[in-house]
Amino acid sequence: MDTVLITGTTSGIGEAFAKKFVLEGYNVILVARNQEKLSLQAQKLGANKNVKYITCDLNDENAINIIEQSLKEWNLTVDILINNAGFNECGLFHETSINRELEMVQVHISSLIKLTKVLLKEMLKNNYGHIVNIGSTGSFIASPSDAVYSATKSFILSFTNALAGELQGTGVKATIICPGATNTKFAIKAGIEKTKLFGVAVMSANQVVDSVYCKLLRGKRVIIPGWYNRIMVACSKILPVSVLNKVTLWMMQ
Ligand SMILES: NC(=O)c1ccc[n+]([C@@H]2O[C@H](COP(=O)([O-])OP(=O)(O)OC[C@H]3O[C@@H](n4cnc5c(N)ncnc54)[C@H](OP(=O)(O)O)[C@@H]3O)[C@@H](O)[C@H]2O)c1
Repeated sequence: MDTVLITGTTSGIGEAFAKKFVLEGYNVILVARNQEKLSLQAQKLGANKNVKYITCDLNDENAINIIEQSLKEWNLTVDILINNAGFNECGLFHETSINRELEMVQVHISSLIKLTKVLLKEMLKNNYGHIVNIGSTGSFIASPSDAVYSATKSFILSFTNALAGELQGTGVKATIICPGATNTKFAIKAGIEKTKLFGVAVMSANQVVDSVYCKLLRGKRVIIPGWYNRIMVACSKILPVSVLNKVTLWMMQ
């Protein structure tokens, strides 16, 4: 059975993905930074099943070496990589924490491309594999009061689309999943749980995973879970940026 490595599994969408893949019989490798939570999660998921975990902080320069090392020790090849770990630092750019924003660039961009490069090489040798990145509806919408977050997610969209183009005919696929507001710890951590964005059509993490799972396995390139999110993204492609700016600012209140 295929092996799936998922980053950011200790809550939210990553946790829901881990449950789903274990249930479907995959070998699952959990990656997050809280050893206690990971160990508990692996025990809960893995009684008699093939669940392993790697503790590392993706903000740490050495994180990808730690992951590589563990895979070597276990002699395991990853067939599906889900780059899911992420967080948000919201607010007007001149007021937000530069350290948190640089951390976001590290976790959403640097770690994601490093881990993808390492695991993709193995996948290409096997002519088989799938790189799955978690973007956001913000991948399509430059968001005032969420400027760095939406820019990192926009990077992920561009990167995934380009990669998917390179990988055609290789047996390796690339997919980006772009959720909208989802009921996880994400909004609470960012202090945006009371905004209008999180007041309408909020999906649960399980709904996100259930609605994308089959499309993911089929290798669809861009997946937007939820009709409301698909309409938002479609509108973002027609409306002028100045109008979108106003709508986004209003939704972030
Ligand atoms: N929730 C939404 O509304 C929403 C919408 C669009 C896109 N997304 C994207 O979906 C993905 C998952 O978010 P979520 O909603 O499931 O949030 P979540 O419940 O806060 O889960 C995020 C996961 O990422 C882990 N993580 C964060 N920073 C990390 C680091 N430096 N190293 C290792 N692991 C780290 C967290 O671990 P800790 O517990 O240790 O922090 C946690 O396991 C993110 O990429 C997010 O941008 C979320």
